[in-house]
Formats: sequence, structure tokens, C-alpha cells
Amino acid sequence: MRVKLLCAFILAVVLCAPSFSAEPPGFIPDMRDSQVMPPNNFICQTMLAGNKLVSFRSWIDIPYMANSPEPEYNRLNVYVPEEYFYEGGTVNGYTAKTAPIFMPNGVGGYMPGRQFVPANDNRHGGPGVALYALSRGYVVVSPAIRGRTLEHGKAPALIVDYKAAVRWVRHNKDKLPAGDTEKIISDGLSAGGALSSLLGATGNAKEYEPYLKEVGAYDERDDIFASVVYCPITDLEHADMPYEWIFNGVNTYHMGPAREMDENMQAASDALKAAFPAYLNSLNLEGYTLDENGNGSFRRYIEGLYIAAAQKALDAGENVRGLEWLTVEGDKVTGADLGKYAVWATRMKAAPAFDSLNMKSFENNEFGDKHFTEYSFKHSTAEKPAMADADKIYVMNPLNFIGREGVTTAKHWRIRHGVKDRDTSLAVPAILALKLKQAGYEADIAAVWGVPHDGNYDLPEMFAWLDAICR
Ligand code: DHB
Repeated sequence: MRVKLLCAFILAVVLCAPSFSAEPPGFIPDMRDSQVMPPNNFICQTMLAGNKLVSFRSWIDIPYMANSPEPEYNRLNVYVPEEYFYEGGTVNGYTAKTAPIFMPNGVGGYMPGRQFVPANDNRHGGPGVALYALSRGYVVVSPAIRGRTLEHGKAPALIVDYKAAVRWVRHNKDKLPAGDTEKIISDGLSAGGALSSLLGATGNAKEYEPYLKEVGAYDERDDIFASVVYCPITDLEHADMPYEWIFNGVNTYHMGPAREMDENMQAASDALKAAFPAYLNSLNLEGYTLDENGNGSFRRYIEGLYIAAAQKALDAGENVRGLEWLTVEGDKVTGADLGKYAVWATRMKAAPAFDSLNMKSFENNEFGDKHFTEYSFKHSTAEKPAMADADKIYVMNPLNFIGREGVTTAKHWRIRHGVKDRDTSLAVPAILALKLKQAGYEADIAAVWGVPHDGNYDLPEMFAWLDAICR
């Protein structure tokens, strides 16, 4: 085995000799003056992904817009499997021409997101998402993206940046050494999942044009092929309602130390819970409704997602028995009770979960320390309550764009949400999936047993799905 590894390593070094002879290994070229793909300034690496040696070339820190207000930030990395530099080279059945382009974003907490770097992943074990994608023959393009703590990073900066990065890829179509620009795939978790869904939903929508012009993005299409979405903190102006639909009645919250919701918060919880059925029904999701008490087919659908997650875990030999909210009969999971689920899962956030009454949540900060819902604006406890611009709220919500004329929404979606996730209600990704399906798109949605607020934990499954849609 050792000899085999050594041989493969020597081979990789020999293959990459041109870059090594030009610069010492590890040298990161400075490409600040160039927005185009610089053909010869790459570094070459070989890494162990599981038991497979993966060789790839990297182009680092390429600016992807001409007039970025945060030029240190708006840069992307390109990684290309080594095989594609040789006549007839293939990986996993892909060639330099057909390799999909995987574009993960590293946004979390609506903070700035760094470029992904191929590496092994300490959190989940094994290769991280960029290295794994390379091992499966995908070209990886990873942009850094502005976030709420930068001077110019408030909404909608993050989606403007992701779109600008897609446009950079299309503009450099003929300069990229490999990759099919009609097979661009986004990926993200949490706020990054919201971003991935925004990119997937809003292809070429005209509302973003002025922002894209302002930052000097290329004049290209920005629609993508597929969107991978984990636990998206999205539909921000409505997400407070389904949170209370699930957690109303659980008054201890766990953002930091466990605390009790005060009277204002409890009143908000009651009001938001009561408002959810009308919102849900207003979406006209065929076959999914709620009565005024929050019961009905949509509730059964959500419970069904939890049941399916538990059944899959049970079939895989995991123990899902003995939970008060879940009914297991023999080897079948037959029931889930959302009310009892909330007690088991525990509440993370006080009501309202996203548009805080004190205007101090991540999301308030994302909108420039402003409210973005009528309810919280009206009941604000902030010293100087302010409301975000309606058009900024609009362009941050993927639901506004799905199936709309003049918009090219991604055809394929994979949406995952952990059963233990209490950062947002499972109803949020579920509504996204139902809306997509109703508009004719493929949306593969599942809740995942044992998983908290997290993403990119099931790479073999995710890439099996991607391979199936890309081939
Ligand atoms: C994230 C988590 C949250 O609970 C939230 O409100 C916003 C963002 C995140 O992990 O990205």
C-alpha cells in the first residue's frame, strides 16, 4: 500500500513538474490585476481523499468583479482535477468538457464567507466538500462572499456576489481548463443554504441587475443547473411564523444559557403561531393546507418527513425507539407528533426567532439593524425601530422568484434538514421544496435523523444524486 501511495505521489509530482519548476511548491501567485483566468499561474497539489490520491491544479484569489467595494473579499479559487490536462483524461466518467462545476459557498450566520480550500474535514471526518468534489471529477469554483459585518456587506451583497461569481465563470468559459458552464451547482448550509437557494431560484432576474452593474460583474447569464441546500435560514420575513407553529408552548430558549421567554416574547409566539395557517394557505400549495388551529395536510406532510427520516435510520440499524414524539411499531415508524417533537428538540430561539423585537438578531443586522416584518416593527422594543427597504427584503427571498416569468430557476434541487435542527422550522425548507415541485422543478427533500444544524455531512449520497442529474 505504502509503495503504491509513494508511486502515485511521484507520478503526481512528475505530472505537475511545469508548475513546480516555475515556482516553489506552495507559492500563491498574486493575480490582483487580473479578472480573467491566468493560464499559467497555478499550483499543483496531491491529497489523500479517503483512500484515493487526488491531484489537482489551483488558481487562487482571482478577483471576480471589476468594482468591488471590498476588493480583498471578492475573489475566487478554481480547482481542476489533474486528469483533465491530458488528452482523453477522465474522472468518474467526466471529461474536461463534461465535468460539472461545483460552486460551494462558505457563508454562515450571514457573515462573510471564505473560499473553500480542498482539505480533509475535521468535523465530519474524511475529505471536505471541495476535495471530495475533485475526487469525483468535478471542477470546483469557490468564491469568497461579502457578509453583514463588512462595511459593504449587508443585504443583498451576498447574492450579488454569488451571481457575479457565476457570471465570471461564464465569461471565462473558454479560458477555464475544464468544466461545463451549463452544469453549475451551488451548495451551502444555513445562511449559506439560504444563499444557495437564492442563487438557484433567481437566475437572470432583473431585480439584481443594478447591484451587479454597480460592482462591475460581467454581463452574462447567472442561472445555474442545480442547487444543493442544507438547513436554509430563508424566507426571513415569514420564518418567524412556522417557528412558533412548532415551538409555541415551549417557553425556555437556549441561545446561550437557558432562559425563559418574557411576556412580549410569549405574546409574539401566540400571535405568530396563529398567523401561520393563513400564510401557508396563501401560498396555494396544492394539496397542502392548514386549518386555523394549525392542523391539516401540511402538518401531516411535515410529520411524514420526520417519520421517513426515522424509518431510514431504523432500517440502517439505528435506535429510534423510546421517544415520546415518535411511534414505532415493530420495524415500522408509524407516527410523529409535532407538539411533542418541540419538547424533545427544545427551543433554540426566543420569539420572534428571526426579526427580534430588540432588533438585534443576525438577520436584523443583515438588513442594516432594521426590522423586516410588520409584526416586529409594530411591537419593537428597540429604541429607534426602523424597517428595511421592501425591495431589499424582496430580493433576499427565493420564494418570490420560483416560476416567475423572466427568471430561470435551477431545474434540480436537493434540500436537507436535520431532525435535531432548531435554528429554523422544517416547514421553511419544506415550503421551498413544495413551491419548486409545484412549479415543475425536481426537488428532493428529506429530513435527516440525528443531524443538528449542519450541512455537507452526506457527501457520497449528495454526489450520487449530482452524478445522476449531470449524466
Ligand atoms: C445561521 C444560523 C442561524 O440560527 C441564523 O439565525 C442565521 C444563520 C447560520 O448558521 O448560518
